[in-house]
Amino acid sequence: MANETNDNFLKACRGEVVDRIPVWFMRQAGRSLPGYRELRKKYDVLTLAQTPELAAQVCIEPIDKLGVDAAILFADIMLLPLSMGVDLKIVDAVGPVIAKPLKTAGDIEAIEPFDPAKIAYLQRAIQIVRNGINVPLIGFSGAPFTLASYLIEGKPSRTWEKTKRFMFEKPDAWAELMEKLSDAIIGYLSAQIEAGAQAVQLFDSWVGALSPGEYRAFVLPHVQKIFAALKSKNVPRIHFGTNTGGMLKDFSNVDADVIGVDWRIDIAGAKRAIGGAKSMQGNLDPVVLLADEKTIEREADAIINALGPDAKKGFIFNLGHGVPPEADDKKVKHLVDYIHAQ
Ligand code: CP3
Repeated sequence: MANETNDNFLKACRGEVVDRIPVWFMRQAGRSLPGYRELRKKYDVLTLAQTPELAAQVCIEPIDKLGVDAAILFADIMLLPLSMGVDLKIVDAVGPVIAKPLKTAGDIEAIEPFDPAKIAYLQRAIQIVRNGINVPLIGFSGAPFTLASYLIEGKPSRTWEKTKRFMFEKPDAWAELMEKLSDAIIGYLSAQIEAGAQAVQLFDSWVGALSPGEYRAFVLPHVQKIFAALKSKNVPRIHFGTNTGGMLKDFSNVDADVIGVDWRIDIAGAKRAIGGAKSMQGNLDPVVLLADEKTIEREADAIINALGPDAKKGFIFNLGHGVPPEADDKKVKHLVDYIHAQ
């Protein structure tokens, strides 16, 4: 453990001025790091995530190797529904696969309410990580829409037809599902904060599938409730989604401290839509990490220059989505050092 605490990430979340731009990456602990790949030869993802000592080891690897300014708990968004009795697997090269995808109101009723005792392993992992690092630890959850999309589709989808049909054809059952998931998410993130998570991020990775009107009608009130409920926990709350450029005013209409955006929108345009009161996180195209170092520097410059003086006030450098599995960790490290040198 290093001695001094690095709190640039938390300062940026709160909109304060920093001396160095904080940087971390979604999926920083995963596939692009050698220690993780070595462990994966012996354990599947769920076993790793549910074994506190191993999850902590994987979570800490990028802090030591990359020098990022925040850690993110090694977990998966599907651990929450798993803890609520949903039968699911993580299939290699596919993702989450649900044994019995949700079809009826009865299927929703059968999902158990959240019980923090079922995720005690996660709280233990948080405690171990906190003792091993000198940067803040971010807890996270999937957002109600993104979780529902896996539960209804049964596997990853890129059209979300079943999910949207469920939403249109069974609006009451949909509202029930959103409510059940939102209450569970509040409990799940609260349990992570109580165990020591110093910030939380809500991942609505697939919500960009909706029109702004659909978002307002079917999703936004539930997300607003989650952020309002977490306010009293006094840790920064990050709201992240992809493909949200067309709905950013609505997406950011929640009581969050930070809004995370992807690369499909200019960061300066995102700032105008979000307003100055919230901090921002983003938004380098993850594929840029596969290019040469000159390109990486140029694209990072474009983001920092577009923000001007705001790059060191209320801004957290990140990718627009997760680190590509085939990224070279030396280039990822180069990017971290480059941002820190600004
Ligand atoms: O990427 C995102 O959009 C973030 C939200 C999210 C996570 N899991 C968080 C996560 C989503 C949408 C998922 C679902 C999921 N789970 C997928 C995507 C499937 C799709 O629809 O495209 C996959 C492949 C999984 C399974 C999974 N989760 C694996 C194989 C791993 C190991 C690490 C890796 O990246 O390969 C995870 C861990 C995981 N899921 C983390 C997070 C934040 C931890 C990674 C980290 O610590 O950086």
